Parts: sequence; C-alpha cells; structure tokens
Amino acid sequence: MNVLITGYEVSPFFKRGGLGDVMGSLPKALKKINVDCRVVVPCYVEMQEKANGKRIGEFHVHFGDKEEEIGVYKSHLPDSDCVVYFLSNRPILSHINLRGRNKKIDQFAFFSLAVVRFIAWLNSNKQWEVDLVHCNDWHTALIPLIMKNKIKPPIPTLLTIHNLSYQGFGSRKVLDLLHFKNEETKELKREISAKEIDILGEGILHATKVSTVSPNYALEIMKEEHCHKEIYTYLRKREAVFGEKDKIIGILNGIDYDAWNPAKDELLFHKFDVNNWEVGKKAVKGNLLKFFSLKPKPTFCFIGRMAVQKGIEMLIKVTKTIVQLDANLIFLGSGDPNIEKSVKRIAQKYPDNVRAEVAYNEELSHKLYAASDFILIPSHFEPCGLIQMVAMRYGTIPIAAKTGGLKDSIVNEKDGFLFEKDKLTRLRRTIKHTLSVKKDNDRYKKMVQRAMRKDFSWDKSAVLYKKLYEEMI
Ligand code: GLC
Repeated sequence: MNVLITGYEVSPFFKRGGLGDVMGSLPKALKKINVDCRVVVPCYVEMQEKANGKRIGEFHVHFGDKEEEIGVYKSHLPDSDCVVYFLSNRPILSHINLRGRNKKIDQFAFFSLAVVRFIAWLNSNKQWEVDLVHCNDWHTALIPLIMKNKIKPPIPTLLTIHNLSYQGFGSRKVLDLLHFKNEETKELKREISAKEIDILGEGILHATKVSTVSPNYALEIMKEEHCHKEIYTYLRKREAVFGEKDKIIGILNGIDYDAWNPAKDELLFHKFDVNNWEVGKKAVKGNLLKFFSLKPKPTFCFIGRMAVQKGIEMLIKVTKTIVQLDANLIFLGSGDPNIEKSVKRIAQKYPDNVRAEVAYNEELSHKLYAASDFILIPSHFEPCGLIQMVAMRYGTIPIAAKTGGLKDSIVNEKDGFLFEKDKLTRLRRTIKHTLSVKKDNDRYKKMVQRAMRKDFSWDKSAVLYKKLYEEMI
C-alpha cells in the first residue's frame, strides 16, 4: 500500500507546531508496519540546507495565466528510509510567511495542485504509484476537490484535521487560478458569501474520509457549543451526506520515541529512566534552575506556541498564586506578540520565581521537560496536544484543561491532573492540590512512574491509520 502524506511542515526540516511533529514521526511508524508511505512538502528556503535533497526532476503546473516549473527534490527522514519529497518553486513556494490571507490561500492552492500533478509525474516516470493521499489541515485541504474533478479515476483522500480554528478562508477567486470550470464547483457550499471559500470546509465535504487527532476532539467538534462556528455547518453537512457510518474518526497522535527519550537524550545534563528518575530529574533540575538563577523550589512550566488557544492569560492570572505557594514558573515559547509581552511583563514582576524565555528553543524545551515537576496546559481547546505526552515521558506531571486530546491522554489523579476548562478557580485549586500531592512522597512517586510508563509511541495509532487506509483503497 503506497500512501503519500502531505502538509505544510515536517519535522525536523521545518516545524512551527505539532503538525510538523506528526508529519515527521507517523510515517516512520507506518513504514515499520509495511505501509510504504512517503511525505511531500513545499521546499522553503529556510529548510533547503537541512533537507539536503537531491534534485530528481521537474514538471510544470498551469496556475492562473502562468506555466510554473516545479523542481522535485528527494531526501529521507533522519534515521529512516522514509522518503520525503520537496516541491520547489521560487516565486510561490520559497517562503511560508506570505502576508495577506489571499496570498496564503493562493500559495497553498498552488501547492495542492502541484501535489496532484506530482502524483501523475511519479507515475509516468515509473517512480512510484500512489494508492491514497493523506492530507493534513487546511493547507492541503483543496486536494480532495482537485482530485475529484481533475483526475479520473480519483485517488482516495484522507483529510486529517489537526486544528479546526485555522481554515484557510479567503476569496473564491483562487478557484479560477486552478482553472475550475463552473460546473465543477457548483457543488461548493454556498452558505458563506458567494465570493468566499473556506478551504478546510471544502476539504471536509470532498475528502473520501475525514479524521482528527483524538477521539474526544472528534466527539467535541460535532457539538455546536464546542465547535468553531464557521466550520460547524460543513461538519454537519458531511454527516448528512455521508451518514453515521462515515463519521469523523479520532485517532490519538503519538510522539517520536527516538526524539523524546530521557534515557538517551544528549541534551540532558543527566539522563534517566523510570528506575532512576529521582536522581536524574533532581540533577537536571538543579542544573536548569542554576542556569535561570532560580532557587530550588517546586517548578511549574509552560512550553508551547503562545497562541490564544493555549490559555496563557489564565496562567498569567494564577502566577501570583504560584509565587505565594513558593514555587517557580518558567515559560518557554513564542507566538502572538501581545501574549509574549504579557508573559515578559509577569516575569519582570516576579523576578525571584518566574522566568520567560520568549523564543522557539528546541534544546531548552528538552531540558525544561526533564527538569520541571509540573507542566501547565490550560488550553481553551486542544485537538490532541503533544506536550503532555512528552512531559509525562520525562516524568513531569501535567495539569491540564479537561478538553480534546488532553482528556484522552491523561487520567486524572493517576498520571496527571485535569481541571474543568476555562475555569480559573478550578485551575488555582488544582495547582494548590498538586503541591500537596507532591508532599505526599509515595503518592507522587507512583504518579510519576505511571506517567513515565504510559505508552505514547506511535505503534498503536499507526495500526489504526493502516486499518483506515485499507478500508479506503
Ligand atoms: C495542532 C493542535 C494540537 C495537536 C497538533 C498535532 O497543533 O493544536 O492539539 O496536537 O496539531 O496534531
């Protein structure tokens, strides 16, 4: 079975969020169970050096009134024989940070068309025959529509939603650039303005199957009060057209156990596993707190994108409580400039207990996962969340909002703590409670061991994807 996985980022070549982690680790797990899966992403200048791809050919795409040349580069995911293709086109695909909503949707419409043409190119060059395309998020969500209309017979498409709040919303003119004829787009949804398109929405309607990244998020998004307003109608329409048997499937993400392993992590001051974590974590923590000039105290951390979704404003509101409880709090991440500013401000306000490293810093994240006692995850919604899994593998107990994949991956009071989402007093109470549990040494030890032993590898979920692919072909 030959599966082409596509999206806008792939770790370690280019990563902005959890999607990059998934794109860089799921294919390796699938290869292990005999799915020949390969990855295709745009070739941004920022990753060319790292990717070190070999040019294997080129083809042309008719986009708008131009014939664009696409160069094909081939490389592998590190430590694996999993092929990654990079599609290169200087004018359109060199940079991810194109400003302006229509520019961005035009860019990824172009990439989506390029992927469809690339499949034909692979075939005609006797390189590889694709049985199924696995699209991820809005950036590649036009592929199902292009496939349906331009390829006979179409290849089945799976669309995985990693985050419903990014939808690729913009002018419908993008369809002219793709040379859609009127009759080909008449089935597009007309509920939003006739001039607009919601790319993720169209993907939801046209993909052969749709999945998301945790079973609980799959349930939540079918309830109006939990879902993002604009996309709810598309989900409902799909349900009405395809019926119960084809409902949106939730498959929990895994994490890359080669990249995240405290027993082999070269970035740690002291490596450790579930048998010697107390010594190991103490050493790593001592080292990190010294680096930050913080006193040895219970330590909470936040790691991740500084986006509204992550509920950081709640953390800012409970910082005073954490300081009064005589504990440390370390923030690591970057994103929304306003959130970054408030995080920096709170660190300045409490210089004895709080630090803010406002940057994307992979190396520091490893150290912080290992050194912290607790990780705070007050997300307003969380399709899956990977940081709780990494933290638990490193013996750090999550305190998380009871939502999405957080609920699927944490067992309250056993290997972490869940509080009712968006409820500040609950979060505050839970923080106090966790510190009292930490004092109860035996109970705390048991929790850490349970967390560290939990299996968040891709093994189980890769089997579920394989089963789904098989059903679709
Ligand atoms: C997005 C979601 C996150 C998920 C990740 C990978 O970043 O917000 O919850 O873990 O994608 O699927």
